[in-house]
Amino acid sequence: MSNQQARGKLIVFEGTDGTGKTTQRNLLGQYLQNQGYPVIITKEPTEGPYGMKIRDLYRHRNRYSREEELELFLADRRHHVTEILHPGLLDGKIILCDRYYFSTAAYQGALGLDPEAILALNDFAPEPDLVLLFQASLDIGLQRITAGRGETLNNFEQREFLEKVAAIFSTIKRPYIFNVDASGPIEDVHRLVVRYVMDLLQPAYTAAQD
Ligand code: TMP
Repeated sequence: MSNQQARGKLIVFEGTDGTGKTTQRNLLGQYLQNQGYPVIITKEPTEGPYGMKIRDLYRHRNRYSREEELELFLADRRHHVTEILHPGLLDGKIILCDRYYFSTAAYQGALGLDPEAILALNDFAPEPDLVLLFQASLDIGLQRITAGRGETLNNFEQREFLEKVAAIFSTIKRPYIFNVDASGPIEDVHRLVVRYVMDLLQPAYTAAQD
C-alpha cells in the first residue's frame, strides 16, 4: 500500500457490526481534541456519491453481483482517499476512520471473493498507522444493533454471514493491527483505545508511565 512522506496519522477502527467502533472513535476524537491534536473524524462507506448506492445495496443486496458490490466499495474508497485521506495526511492531521479496506476483505471476502486479492486491489489507499480490531461476541454485537439501537438487521448483519466476516478479520495479520476486547464497559474499552493510540502518538510519554 502506498505511504505518504510528510504525513499525519491514519487510525482505523475495524470489526463486525455492533462492537462499539463508532462510539469509541467519537470518544477518542474528543479526547485527542482536548489534548490539542488536529483530528479528522471520518468513515466508510462515506456520505459521498457512492455512499447512496451502497445504502441501496444494504436494502437490496441480491440486486448486485458480488463483483459489483466490491467495485462500489472500491469506488467509494478512491473518492475518500482523494478527497479526505490524502489531503488530511499531507496536512499532518490525525485521521480516525470507522472501517477501511480490511472491512472490504472481510465482508466481500465472506461472499466468497479472495480476501488477499481484495487487499491487493486497495494498493491505491494509504496504509494505516494503527488498526484497532474490535472484538466482541456476535451475540453482544447483534443485541446492540437490535435492542440497543432499535434497528432491524440489514443484509450485512445476519449471524451466519458475520461469523464468516469475523473469521476473515482474524486471519489478516499486519504489524499495526491490534485486537481490542470490546465486550466490557465503554470506559474500559476507551482506556484501552487511548493506550494504543498514545503509544503511537507519544511513545516516549507512554513508556515513561510504565
Ligand atoms: P457501518 O454499519 O459501519 O456504516 O457499515 C455499513 C456496512 O457496510 C457494514 O455492515 C459493513 C459493510 N461494509 C462492507 O461490506 N465493505 C466495506 O468495504 C465497508 C467499508 C463496509
